[in-house]
Amino acid sequence: MNEWDERAEYYRDSPTHAAGDDLDQVVEWCEPRSGLAALDVATGGGHVARRLRERGCVVTSCDAAAGMKPDVVCPAEELPFEDESFDVVACRVALHHLSDAAKAVRAMARVSRRLVVLEDTLWVDERVQEAEAVRDPTHVRHYRRAEVLAMLAAAGLEVVGEATFFKRHQMDDWLGATGCAGEDARRVRELLAHVSEPDGDGWTDAKIVLKAAKTAAAGPAAAAAARQMLRRTPST
Ligand SMILES: C[S@@+](CC[C@H](N)C(=O)[O-])C[C@H]1O[C@@H](n2cnc3c(N)ncnc32)[C@H](O)[C@@H]1O
Repeated sequence: MNEWDERAEYYRDSPTHAAGDDLDQVVEWCEPRSGLAALDVATGGGHVARRLRERGCVVTSCDAAAGMKPDVVCPAEELPFEDESFDVVACRVALHHLSDAAKAVRAMARVSRRLVVLEDTLWVDERVQEAEAVRDPTHVRHYRRAEVLAMLAAAGLEVVGEATFFKRHQMDDWLGATGCAGEDARRVRELLAHVSEPDGDGWTDAKIVLKAAKTAAAGPAAAAAARQMLRRTPST
């Protein structure tokens, strides 16, 4: 059992994962209908998959952790599906956990016939990154809006919808969810002081949701330009 398998129950029950305007937006932008073939990448508690199934879609879920009980156990960077196997590929709040997010986005574009719908938490600053990593060692990094857009463009995808949502985290619950306690919890609170509520009871992050379409216009030249932009985007 790895740290992800141990968290399966948390991701299934977590109210911030199980519901919200952001989840509603991801589902709507998948354009759900009876028979639509959808892939939910890094499905976690399976909330996107469940909501799409409720709308009649034929959903395959995948995740690197067997404990999440996905249909297919695989890393997002190496999706074991034929090119253009799905009408839509969705990936909600998982990019910041991946060791190679850009590679995963390319894999999602490859296996989609038409749409990729992504959601992830946006970069704030180095203090927030450090806090996230202390609280949760599986955190790789958040990306700026421009970086996510560059990943999509490099994968040959054109953004056709964009929305931002704000999610409040009750500090004790949020720290407790990953077992962050003692000196680590104190350090996280200190690092997040500049973005926390005055009494320290909570803090709010921003999620970007992007709907992207495969387009003939996004050919190799556009992809090369986007890759160039990705290389130039500083990490701090
Ligand atoms: C925050 S949860 C995802 C939440 C879920 N998509 C939702 O809508 O509630 C992150 C998930 O990413 C998975 N994960 C981590 N690294 C991965 C990788 N390289 N490839 C695929 N899944 C990965 C974890 O097992 C975990 O289930």
